[in-house]
Amino acid sequence: MFKKICIIGIGLIGGSIARAAREQSLCNNIVAFGRKSGIKNLQTAKDLAVIDEFYTDIEAAVKDADCIIICTPVGIIENIFKQLKPFWNENTLYTDAGSTKGSVVTAAETVFGKVPDNFIPAHPIAGAESSGVAASKADLFLAKRLILTPLESSSEKFIKKTTDLWQGIGSIVSVMDVGHHDAVLAATSHLPHILAFSLVDLLGQKDEKVEIFKYAAGGFKDFTRIASSDPTMWLDICMANKNEIIPLIQQLKTDLGEIEQMLANDDSQQLFETFTYAKQARQRFLNQFDNTMSQIINFNIQPGGSLRGEIRVPGDKSMSHRSIMLGSLAEGVTHVKGFLNAEDALATLAAFRAMGVEIEGPVNGEVTIHGVGKHGLKEPKDPLYLGNSGTSMRLLSGLLAGQKFNTVLTGDKSLSSRPMKRVTAPLATMGAKIETEADGTAPLRITGTDQLKSIDYVMPMASAQVKSCMLLAGMYAEGETTVVEPAPTRDHTERMLNGFGYPVQRDGAKASITSEGKLTAADIDVPSDISSAAFFLVGASIAPDSDVTLNHVGINPTRTGIIDILRLMGANIDVMNERSVGGEPVADLRVRSSQLKGIDIPQELVPLAIDEFPVLFVAAACADGQTTLTGAKELRVKECDRIQVMADGLQTLGVDAQPTEDGMVIQGKTADSIGGGEVDTHDDHRIAMSFSIAGLRATAPITVQDCENVNTSFPEFRDLSTQLGLRLT
Ligand code: S3P
Repeated sequence: MFKKICIIGIGLIGGSIARAAREQSLCNNIVAFGRKSGIKNLQTAKDLAVIDEFYTDIEAAVKDADCIIICTPVGIIENIFKQLKPFWNENTLYTDAGSTKGSVVTAAETVFGKVPDNFIPAHPIAGAESSGVAASKADLFLAKRLILTPLESSSEKFIKKTTDLWQGIGSIVSVMDVGHHDAVLAATSHLPHILAFSLVDLLGQKDEKVEIFKYAAGGFKDFTRIASSDPTMWLDICMANKNEIIPLIQQLKTDLGEIEQMLANDDSQQLFETFTYAKQARQRFLNQFDNTMSQIINFNIQPGGSLRGEIRVPGDKSMSHRSIMLGSLAEGVTHVKGFLNAEDALATLAAFRAMGVEIEGPVNGEVTIHGVGKHGLKEPKDPLYLGNSGTSMRLLSGLLAGQKFNTVLTGDKSLSSRPMKRVTAPLATMGAKIETEADGTAPLRITGTDQLKSIDYVMPMASAQVKSCMLLAGMYAEGETTVVEPAPTRDHTERMLNGFGYPVQRDGAKASITSEGKLTAADIDVPSDISSAAFFLVGASIAPDSDVTLNHVGINPTRTGIIDILRLMGANIDVMNERSVGGEPVADLRVRSSQLKGIDIPQELVPLAIDEFPVLFVAAACADGQTTLTGAKELRVKECDRIQVMADGLQTLGVDAQPTEDGMVIQGKTADSIGGGEVDTHDDHRIAMSFSIAGLRATAPITVQDCENVNTSFPEFRDLSTQLGLRLT
């Protein structure tokens, strides 16, 4: 890509650029320039083979270089420009790696009159506690952000060259204007460094400093890690960006003053809200922004293998959501065991914290909820961000429609494209005021009202989320709200409401509720999620020599469609030790390999296995003969269009899978059932896990792209599946 790269200032950053450029074959001649006083450092760089040659004479260093990268402290860049000026070459790319951009641009203007169009300012967002060329490493910038701050006058050709260089090194390149860069970095990097330096300075000066450091635990170490950074460099950065940093320090002083007052006044409620808000804001930040900054996780599955062993999969997602919702509205303290510590359920938990509910945990699946009573929720300061969780959004819309305060519900890209009219339309007939986007999607802007009126609602689709939404709204409506479902759907809301002492009448397909009632705190034992167990029920059925026992699985009859369908296909599943735990049936499931056969899936089982079809399609691909699914249009509006995405992926793997409007037709094969290849999850956790299971009967490796999303429902999937024998890396 380049004939000769000259690095000016070979320390941690310059050295790491050189190593990465060499490793990625971006250049075969890399030299460095430094001052005579730094000759020892230059020699080290050469000895370590980070560079091919070094110079203390700038003319010799830059001769024939087609790429010059300034990696010195930002404070001396003006001086570097002065030295470069006599040898400036219009065909050479000049760029830098400074942490502030305004000062670098000003330095260029001072020296050249205007910023040369072949100088492209850049800032890699990466660093390490250690400094110097000896600490440099080729992967320092891998999957890290690199911000380019080109000017209007910058040459497109050189912007592209800089982009190619950093992408070649493995960075994720973003473009920002100079002022924006400096404002963002002042808040996210420079201020935190100043805080870390100042806290350690404060504590270090105390007489009892030895004591303090002796007892300093993880929090101190985590918070002050960046105070180990190079003081010279940070002095330089802070001086260069002081105009952005000073106003932030002033704001922080005000904030600290407020916290001081809360403590002095014993205002624990206010303090709790401040901490809760901060925790939530951080979580939102991690959810929304970190994903793009972290590496993408792909699952690679080596073909074949068996599943053997005994495991307990994590807690039921539907029940975990409801335990938080109803526990929060209850009077008294609710203890939950077996809570699903995964993103979806945590989104509900965070939402109730933001509405003033004190919730402890989860720690080892245990959560303690200090209920605030049916009318005790408080208006959240900010929109409630619900991530990927349709259950959170649809159930909360009903619950919040009848509150006296307003709320806004938001979610990630997938959730923001899912249909919400199915809840907002019937809620509107109850008198709820909810605004959606024009196409009926989130954000949902709810104007709370205490004037909800009951309705009799006949649901057009079999949906437990819609049913639950209406029942929760019915708790705040005048009169009796009834919901009739076209086919049985999961009934955890009804069961749990009864468990909390709140009356819900059930009569066949009809459930009724009124506002007359209260919830009394109850202990909840959440069983394992049959929807997570489903991956191993299918996996152990299709993989030869398999024998898996799944302990403590919830077998509520509105959820066991997967067992019924697999048994119709000839699966060997034993339901053992049936018992009742907190009003829900639970059992241990033993599953052994069997040759499945293709079937027409009975339509009445569809709602009872609604989340399990992605993995059932994999079972069908390995079955003898044709499997036909009909009456499952709902699959098109799940976390993704599960009919289309599964059909596409299965076809990529050589399976004859034909999507239909409301289902799929799959021609199963008993040998060479599934081929290898690359499939995409379309941001859907169950697609990711289903194609991973397909590897058990594949003839070649399968790469499942973008599997981070398994964290929404089953973060332990990778560990548990490999423990059983899936060849997943
Ligand atoms: C759920 C109901 C189902 C299911 C979802 C969880 C619930 O959705 O797919 O994963 O907890 O109520 P629908 O009501 O849209 O069928």
